[in-house]
Amino acid sequence: MCGIVAYFGKKQAQPILIEGLKRLEYRGYDSAGVALLKANQFEVYKTSGRIANLEEILPETESRAVVGIGHTRWATHGVPNTINAHPHIDYTGKIALVHNGIIENYAILKKWLIKEGCTFKSETDTEVVANLIGYFYERNRARNGENAPSGSNRFEWAVQQAFNEIYGTYGLAIMCSDCPDVMIGVKKGSPLILGVGKEEYIIASDASAIIEHTSQAIYLSDGEMVTIHSEGFDTKTISNEEVTKELKDIEISLDQIELEGFEHYMQKEIAEQPQVLETCLKGRVDVKNGRVILGGIQDKLRDLTRTKRIILSACGTAWHAGLVGEFLFEQLARIPSEVEYASEFRYRNPIVDEGTIFIAISQSGETADTLAAVELAKERGATVLGIVNVVGSTIARTTDAGVYLRVGPEIGVASTKAFTAQVSVLTMLAIELGRRRHLSSEMAQGLLKELMEIPKKVEQIFSQKEQTRQIAQANIDKDNWLFLGRGFNYPVALEGALKLKEISYIHAEGLPAAEMKHGPIALITDNMPAVFIATKCSQYEKIIGNIEEVRARGGRTIVVATEGDEHIKPYADHLITVPDTVEQLQPLLTVVPLQMLAYHAAVLRGHDVDKPRNLAKSVTVE
Ligand code: AGP
Repeated sequence: MCGIVAYFGKKQAQPILIEGLKRLEYRGYDSAGVALLKANQFEVYKTSGRIANLEEILPETESRAVVGIGHTRWATHGVPNTINAHPHIDYTGKIALVHNGIIENYAILKKWLIKEGCTFKSETDTEVVANLIGYFYERNRARNGENAPSGSNRFEWAVQQAFNEIYGTYGLAIMCSDCPDVMIGVKKGSPLILGVGKEEYIIASDASAIIEHTSQAIYLSDGEMVTIHSEGFDTKTISNEEVTKELKDIEISLDQIELEGFEHYMQKEIAEQPQVLETCLKGRVDVKNGRVILGGIQDKLRDLTRTKRIILSACGTAWHAGLVGEFLFEQLARIPSEVEYASEFRYRNPIVDEGTIFIAISQSGETADTLAAVELAKERGATVLGIVNVVGSTIARTTDAGVYLRVGPEIGVASTKAFTAQVSVLTMLAIELGRRRHLSSEMAQGLLKELMEIPKKVEQIFSQKEQTRQIAQANIDKDNWLFLGRGFNYPVALEGALKLKEISYIHAEGLPAAEMKHGPIALITDNMPAVFIATKCSQYEKIIGNIEEVRARGGRTIVVATEGDEHIKPYADHLITVPDTVEQLQPLLTVVPLQMLAYHAAVLRGHDVDKPRNLAKSVTVE
């Protein structure tokens, strides 16, 4: 996934592009570049590495250009070097563009363009788009031999011709050196938003690069394009039909995307879980009547209550939340449920029909595999819901209905507050469905009352910040960790392992604790920390047994236990405690120490916590 930003207005474009790229850097940081257009000439600066590297190569005197495009890359085709960095310029030198997505048929198009005399510099699929537009622009003739309609905007026409040939996903901003008073954005499968300011426009991959300039935006849908010009802008489909788009308020604020004194976004997002979980629950929980109000899916609750089957689908951390959801739906609502990896679901010809409820879980709302699974479920007649954080994101706009997390932008690549919010929404939904089926009002009231206590209980865990840092310090030289849990804490073990892996680069594996004796216990030495989630729950005695199995073999144990549990102490080389709560809600608490453990391990290992290597915040490519 990459970040694109473009400016069209009256101010100097360069600083606006650089600031915008910094806000988007979490989307990818293999290379970065800008192209500025002044007096019908492009000034292009691009380099491998971070945006800081790009700033170093910019000229001392800022360009006076008031139109420009910028890109920060997560490499899909071609190594992350300067030649493959965006922006890409076409062979005529008149077209410049930045792209987020994947062009599926780039190889065949490249072959044809080379045959037609076009030259290429990079290995990227994006350069094929630039050359294809340049090809139609220069020849001013469509592939079927027809000339561009007279009077039409030749640049816009050439873009449309090119996208008639292209298959794949794309969010792009495009300039033509012959038309410095025109900027074009095109969207299909990757996010693209047009910020509408006072005589200025910003095209960007997400609102974080727009919000400091304007709070008004147009959200393009797939197959749409926007042509910005001196009188304003026109929106149409790529096949040139006019489209009316509504101006919407951007729902995030600047302070939500600032670090606000924290060292890293991940640290901030772990710390803000108490208040954002309160926001996530606010106005949705009716403890007195044991009911839940989820406005976004109110009219789907009948289908949900009657369904014979729920499929949850997601990737990564969202999948772990979905596994908690599976257990909650089965236990509280007694509805057969299963969580599917979206990347697998979409290709295995799954059994889905009108009676199926399909719930996609996605923080960004842009994950390509999850979006594809949504589209497949819709095609097969399922009722498709979304549990999404980013308002107006593609998945949010593709599902039949959904519930927003309402936790504000999550910028750290390692997902934290989104996980606890996803689990909170799934918990509320499971309780409401249960109430419409067999769950007693007393049981629901008890669960909801306890759910409302969770934010405060999360806050209490932070008192062990230093303890968690010391545990990370004591084990920082260990290159392989195990994470083990049972029941509702099994998904948390998976999540804890993922957190550690993705930001500290320590190999970690999450397992159901009982699975140890079926093989993994062969791995145990005192060089492999075993993190056990051993809170007071129905399987407490069993997990103690699993801890003993590990300790009997010289294993080192890090235990997450219930506050005040004295019995557990002899089993723990290192102990972190969480406040007591009912089993079904324990993931909301037991995940927090594991988030903190991963955070400290990454910092102690000197890694970039918010932008870990090879990763991006949202994977909008397959
Ligand atoms: C989680 O820490 C990872 N960054 C990753 O697994 C992420 O959860 C996954 O890519 C799904 O993203 P989404 O929730 O935006 O769809």
